[in-house]
Amino acid sequence: MNIRLEQPADYREVENLTREAFWNVYRPGCLEHYVLHRYRDDPAFIPELDFVMEENGRLIGHIMFSKAEIALVGGGVLPSWTFGPISIHPDFKRKGYGLKLLNHALEKARAIGVGFLCMEGNIAFYGHAGFDLASKLKIHYHDEPPEAEVPYFLARELIPGYLHGLEGTYRPPKGYFVANENPEDFAAYEATFPAKEKAFLPGQLPHFCKTCGHPLSCEADCSIDAAGHTDFDHCKSCR
Ligand SMILES: CC(C)(COP(=O)(O)OP(=O)(O)OC[C@H]1O[C@@H](n2cnc3c(N)ncnc32)[C@H](O)[C@@H]1OP(=O)(O)O)[C@@H](O)C(=O)NCCC(=O)NCCS
Repeated sequence: MNIRLEQPADYREVENLTREAFWNVYRPGCLEHYVLHRYRDDPAFIPELDFVMEENGRLIGHIMFSKAEIALVGGGVLPSWTFGPISIHPDFKRKGYGLKLLNHALEKARAIGVGFLCMEGNIAFYGHAGFDLASKLKIHYHDEPPEAEVPYFLARELIPGYLHGLEGTYRPPKGYFVANENPEDFAAYEATFPAKEKAFLPGQLPHFCKTCGHPLSCEADCSIDAAGHTDFDHCKSCR
């Protein structure tokens, strides 16, 4: 197993790997491969922390990092960082590769001065790499009231004392929302990959109609598009 920086020649394979890893995990289909596709040109992207993992010459994992910000209580902004998507190919999941890739990247991040990281994720995995609830460090989630203990909003000081006990709210990088902001470009990009079946599966995040906000939890809730396929992004009443 080898971990190295991603090269431009890897881009397509890594995006396909990201698509395979995230497909139907958090929603029907996924959008993380498109986020990655657009992120490498984003000023928040950190090329020195853009790693791929290889096993017997095959790319099996990837992780990227991004600059972010903490808006401090009382005013001011503290430079901060986040990471993701992190992907391990489905054939190689739960064999320890993800943790190895993450720990390698965290060491490199600390070495270049990344002092504090927060992100959305499952503590069952990230707890193994030293992450804990961000609320314990007085860092709040942008979408929830400051007093909320958000179980999926995690953080870790890579440089002990980096926060100096400061309190603030995480501002996620704009680049993470690119798929919702560019639905047509995303659809055109997605169409360049081999077709895969979208599905509602247990454990996904709540999913809502993009037009009216109605919850969508099974195909019967969704509309049918002009080609006769389920439109997972719109309810029966909206097209
Ligand atoms: C999440 C992901 C990167 C983890 O990589 P991995 O190689 O599968 O995980 P590891 O084998 O290194 O896991 C180490 C430990 O973390 C925990 N863990 C890992 N994935 C977990 C999961 N999905 N649920 C609960 N615990 C998990 C387990 O304790 C595991 O040890 P165990 O298998 O002995 O129980 C990988 O599964 C993946 O690509 N998933 C799809 C995309 C994704 O969800 N990315 C993260 C978005 S926040």
